[in-house]
Amino acid sequence: MTTVLTGITTTGTPHLGNYVGAIKPAIESSKNADVKSYFFLADFHALIKCWEPQRIAESTKQIAATWMALGLDTDTAFFYRQSDIPEIPELTWLLTCMAAKGLMNRSHAYKAQVAENLEQGEDDPDKGITMGLFSYPVLMAADILMFNANEVPVGKDQTQHLEMTRDIGARFNHHFGDHFVMPKTIVDDEVAVLPGLDGRKMSKSYNNTIPLWLPEKKLRKHIMKIKTNSLEPGEPKDPSDSHVFSIYRAFATQEQTAAMRQAYADGIAWGEAKQQLFELINDELKEPRERYEGLIQQPDVIEQTLLKGADRAREFATPFLAQLKQAVGIKPIA
Ligand code: TRP
Repeated sequence: MTTVLTGITTTGTPHLGNYVGAIKPAIESSKNADVKSYFFLADFHALIKCWEPQRIAESTKQIAATWMALGLDTDTAFFYRQSDIPEIPELTWLLTCMAAKGLMNRSHAYKAQVAENLEQGEDDPDKGITMGLFSYPVLMAADILMFNANEVPVGKDQTQHLEMTRDIGARFNHHFGDHFVMPKTIVDDEVAVLPGLDGRKMSKSYNNTIPLWLPEKKLRKHIMKIKTNSLEPGEPKDPSDSHVFSIYRAFATQEQTAAMRQAYADGIAWGEAKQQLFELINDELKEPRERYEGLIQQPDVIEQTLLKGADRAREFATPFLAQLKQAVGIKPIA
């Protein structure tokens, strides 16, 4: 049995890039009988970069409804909110006491902020940097080590955090006995990275996303806005230089991709290529979209699902944390 675990920070609205690059492959992998899946909403992580309560609450609801609408089996996978597992912040402290400050100093996220301060001529290199940002990797280590995850699928930008997780976990094991499994980082280069409306990577920080759950008409409108060049209908077009094609391919079967490649060579009009892209995406999302909208109307169903997920996850976390505390000398006197 392999334990696969990943977290989603609850600061945004799910978009097509999240769907293709993370959610869809994760749900697929969770159907494998040899895999035990832990997927959670990293709402404590959200506080590090977002101080808008409304946004965090909305995002949590939307992301939870998204995974449920897309068919995650929440009776087999462990699907929960980080903040519903009090063992995670407790473990964070045990790990904080094992985390070298020098290791945290080297964190990319922290260093990037310091570099920006210096660039702007600030006297204080730590201006605007909270302890949350600084010790973010320790909280992430607790998420992962709490459930002895073997594999952690993440984006490339997270690989350093996984190295830190192993470093901190190994130090704990060295001092207190072999408690933690060393997790492997899984960065899947096969998974499509979608371009956004402007052609850069689709990301909420670039404000170029296509939200996953737009109503049909709006979805079509967004797709029509994807940047193209000015080649006319009838002129052959280069698929390797087309955002419309890159997105099409991420949703299409091999046959459909080959047919679209041919259509490009034959000079398909941009409007027509975009229409076909719209139909392809819409067909795939139509049914889940209905389920999503139904769930958003029934927030109590989402809430109960998350609470049940947390209960199930704590069946492991509670005794495991007791064991860890015992190992460091925090235990009943008699
Ligand atoms: N830091 C991750 C991100 O920004 C989210 C995250 C939090 C996570 N805890 C995790 C991912 C544990 C994997 C495992 O994408």
